[in-house]
Amino acid sequence: MDLEIVKKVGTTAARRGAEITHSLVGKITKIKKKGAIDLLTEADTGSESIIIKTIRENFPDHSILAEESGEIKQNPEYEWIIDPLDGTTNFAHGLNHYAISIAFAINKKIVVGIVFNPEADELFTATAGKGATLNGHPIKVSAVESISESLLVTGFPYNFKDILATVLTRFSNCLQAAQGIRRFGSAALDLCYVACGRFEGFWEQNLQPWDTAAGHLIAKEAGAVITDFSNQPFAIEKKEILATNDKIHHQMLSLLKV
Ligand code: IPD
Ligand code: CA
Ligand code: CA
Repeated sequence: MDLEIVKKVGTTAARRGAEITHSLVGKITKIKKKGAIDLLTEADTGSESIIIKTIRENFPDHSILAEESGEIKQNPEYEWIIDPLDGTTNFAHGLNHYAISIAFAINKKIVVGIVFNPEADELFTATAGKGATLNGHPIKVSAVESISESLLVTGFPYNFKDILATVLTRFSNCLQAAQGIRRFGSAALDLCYVACGRFEGFWEQNLQPWDTAAGHLIAKEAGAVITDFSNQPFAIEKKEILATNDKIHHQMLSLLKV
């Protein structure tokens, strides 16, 4: 499999999805609810359809896992994992911080990641073993050594009420130790911002495979260390993710212990 071609097709798909989302910025009238606070707009479904169409035109026998339409099970060796709009709550409120996230896996190993923020015109990509880029330029994680000099980012899952106590303890520990914390509302971009050194660390619980599939490869290829909260290797099916610039990883692990 030529991963350059895969990346090209994935990028075209992301840009086509972004044309739909961009055309709907600030124009969303109907918002459906998948859960009490889990939203769905026509931008999510429109973006996902064109992304899937683009992939299937080029690779008709590949499997697909997409947030809104679920699984298309075909050749199990090759799988695309799609979040057509990461940051739907932002989008539904007219906030421009969101992304299209597309990953490609061979035998369950993510080998290409693409995260595109159309409103900032920032395209993050990575190929396993070949580094990560932002708009074609290589990126790497920050060199900050201590947690007190670190800007962190986190997110709260839609079912946060089920795990409220641990979410708040972890947030409180990190807030007291760090220079600052942000909650931007797109896990894919949170990971990319760790990758390019804007944040030193990102943690979140209960994310889904499509939230982290592309972003975690981009962060890893930029030099990030990514584990669960027990310092075990991360996998997209896992319920916890901690991605840091490596230097603050152990400090973060102790702050996340509850
Ligand atoms: C959400 C965003 C958010 C995170 C949520 C995710 P969605 O994805 O990544 O930052 O905190 O847990 O579900 O629903 O906007 O694609
Ligand atoms: Ca998402
Ligand atoms: Ca989404």
